[in-house]
Amino acid sequence: MPGPFRWLDQRLDLHGVKRDLLDREVPARLTWWHTLGSATLTVFLVQVITGTTLATYYSPSPDHAYDSVRYIADHVASGALVRGIHHWGASAMVVLILAHMIRVFSVGAYKYPREINWLLGVGLFIVVLGFSFTGYLLPWDQKAYWATAVGTNIAGTTPFVGAALVAVLRGGSELGAATLARFYAFHVLWLPLLLTAIAALHLIVVIRQGIAARPRDLETGAPARTSDPEYPAYYREAYAATKRGGMRFWPDILGKDAIVSATVVLVIVLMALAFGAPLEAPADATDTSYVPRPEWYFLPIYQLLKLVPGSLEAVIAVGVPTALLLAMVALPFFDRGSTRNLLHRPVALVSLVVLLAGSGMLIGAAGPGPGLATLEGPALSAQQRAGRALYQSQQCGGCHRVAGQGGDEGPDLTAIGLRHSAGWLHSFMEQPARFHEETRMPAYGPPAMSHQEIEELAQYLATLRGRGDQQPQFYDTFPPPRPH
Ligand code: HEC
Repeated sequence: MPGPFRWLDQRLDLHGVKRDLLDREVPARLTWWHTLGSATLTVFLVQVITGTTLATYYSPSPDHAYDSVRYIADHVASGALVRGIHHWGASAMVVLILAHMIRVFSVGAYKYPREINWLLGVGLFIVVLGFSFTGYLLPWDQKAYWATAVGTNIAGTTPFVGAALVAVLRGGSELGAATLARFYAFHVLWLPLLLTAIAALHLIVVIRQGIAARPRDLETGAPARTSDPEYPAYYREAYAATKRGGMRFWPDILGKDAIVSATVVLVIVLMALAFGAPLEAPADATDTSYVPRPEWYFLPIYQLLKLVPGSLEAVIAVGVPTALLLAMVALPFFDRGSTRNLLHRPVALVSLVVLLAGSGMLIGAAGPGPGLATLEGPALSAQQRAGRALYQSQQCGGCHRVAGQGGDEGPDLTAIGLRHSAGWLHSFMEQPARFHEETRMPAYGPPAMSHQEIEELAQYLATLRGRGDQQPQFYDTFPPPRPH
């Protein structure tokens, strides 16, 4: 043993550490799926390193945030790369933690004795989503601002506590300096501390309990339920038996972990080099026509919101995630059957398939490009929402079509906001006959509707910009003024 190691070993008993941590026996015939948890941890470390680098240059105030991010991207050496890695690392973390949870679910590794670690895992998952949500706002570009506006609006629809929740998230009623300060503090202080603490507990429990064995090795001869008083003794023996294959934590497990982690980091770096991280125009709080497209992992719920009538939006937006969360928390206490293999657990199998296929279909249905402005309840301002309600109550849809829904008598309005300004739309709806004498479009000016209502409608129609990200080109021709 080289000198310095001997010196340390005499003081810290490095051999003991090696014996207790690395030479441990592990269950035989483990697959590569075991590496997902350690890969998630590796990506977290990558996020800590790149995030700390970014924080060195970033300025968390609405006046400077955007410029400081621009500066990182354009002037700091490798700044764009570091940002890119942080951006793709964030997605990778969500992918990996989801994959890890799906795997743990599939092999029944949340069952006795691992209920606590499943709960810690659910906690980690929520913290990771918190990282995404808070990180999104920091560049203070259009997407950042409006995605956070939508997200906090959704939180605001929670029954009873909605308003308080919005106030807490935003630090006031508007998105502004207070919001950015607390999102930043959460992103770089609270959440990292929380994640480190929970992840440490998670790892300690894994070390105490050992790595989960293959489901089939814990099924033969098992009592039917894990709540059976015989089960702990059965488990102890069955688990000990799986360790007789002579496999060691190092190199059999850690070796695979290292290979997968290295590959994941390589993929993240390649993605960063190839695609970088997006940065849109600076946030503009007055541009209510901007339609943010959420990150892919929020797409299923976002798409679901488009499918339900407006009155149900709030219920779905808050209810579905809450229900999923409660189901995850309840799972290990509710499901006490001792079968672990997914193929032998029909209810679990069907639930998982429905959840995954449903989310996949919803993500697929979202297609590329921003979603349709019409259907985005939460992204609209109060005025635009009022306009949308008028569009429905006045039955404009009887003659007009928006996003494939409605009648044919009048022109399709799906992209009307690209062709006409709100001002023009207001004048037209007030008295269409001034524009076309023979028009079949009814006049909606007073007394049919007040000017305020027409303006609400016009503001709503101006948000209809189809599916693409085209910029509006107005063709507003007004009739000549009438002689008085
Ligand atoms: C009875 C059928 C009918 C109803 C109801 C109706 N419209 Fe129209 N709308 C038309 C027709 C037909 C045109 C084309 C008129 C023209 O070319 O002068 C039109 C034109 C328009 C245009 C201009 C479209 C363009 O491309 O220039 C807008 C905007 C519009 N309608 C909005 C509305 C709104 C908002 C409502 C509900 C408050 C509504 N319409 C209700 C029949 C209808």
